Amino acid sequence: MSASFGMLKAFLKSRVGIVLDADKHYLAQARLAPLTRRFGERTVEGLLQRLGEGADPALAQAVIEAMTTNETYFFRDRRPFDLFGETILPQLMHSRAPTRLIRVWCAGCATGQEPYSLAMMLDELAKQLAGWRVEILATDISAAALDTARGASYNQFEAQRGLPVNMLLRYFNREDDRWRLAEHLRARVEFRELNLMSDFDGLGPFDVIFCRNVLIYFDVETKKNVLERLARVCRPDGYLMLGAAESVLDLGEAWRAHPQNPGLNIRRPAAAVKRLQLISSH
Ligand SMILES: C[S@@+](CC[C@H](N)C(=O)[O-])C[C@H]1O[C@@H](n2cnc3c(N)ncnc32)[C@H](O)[C@@H]1O
Repeated sequence: MSASFGMLKAFLKSRVGIVLDADKHYLAQARLAPLTRRFGERTVEGLLQRLGEGADPALAQAVIEAMTTNETYFFRDRRPFDLFGETILPQLMHSRAPTRLIRVWCAGCATGQEPYSLAMMLDELAKQLAGWRVEILATDISAAALDTARGASYNQFEAQRGLPVNMLLRYFNREDDRWRLAEHLRARVEFRELNLMSDFDGLGPFDVIFCRNVLIYFDVETKKNVLERLARVCRPDGYLMLGAAESVLDLGEAWRAHPQNPGLNIRRPAAAVKRLQLISSH
């Protein structure tokens, strides 16, 4: 299916930013095969030919859903959440004292475990945060992942993955063989469908952006472009948290890596240097 695979590659690159390597034929075949029946096609080739004709938005969305990877879990890699609680939040509570408002964006939130981990942390800090408003916006391109996120109902494996047992028991209710996050925590997160390839200037400004394990699927130019636009919606003294295997190195001027904390990045302006020293002496 090499002609249609080329078309699929071009489609994903332009619509989602995702780069499909030449050795991903098999992956594409396996992920798209279940769609053939639903769209009345006999083969993946036929499905992709129809995708190429560009006249079926439902098919385009289904292909995007099938080809994105929604892997996530609660408190993934742990360290970013420790940094959020121990370093970022105290700094922001100092600098945002006049407004008592902190805005967090989880860009590429998949099925919700990342923003809900933050919501649970904030709940634990409720006393310190009395009188503060901390908003969490969580976005993803996948409508199916967002449906799961909004429902906040997880099976035993998902619920236990990364989540300390005491938090599971405190914040989740058992519903048959699943675990559902308590209503007051679900209400803390606003979920919205958003493609990072589209214009998101209107969403900002944010104090903290989590964009973890999303850029890894993009090529260098797309990474640079998204990082540049993320900087535009982040406050000058704001933070960007990337995934454990990601960095801003050689990806433009908008961000600099925190020397002691890989994955944590701050905006370039001179004020940031001062803040770096503050964090270092923390
Ligand atoms: C591997 S998950 C990461 C989830 C979470 N941030 C974490 O680290 O656990 C990557 C998510 O990015 C989303 N994604 C990929 N391309 C995107 C795009 N162009 N715009 C918005 N979301 C995208 C996928 O749908 C998927 O849910």
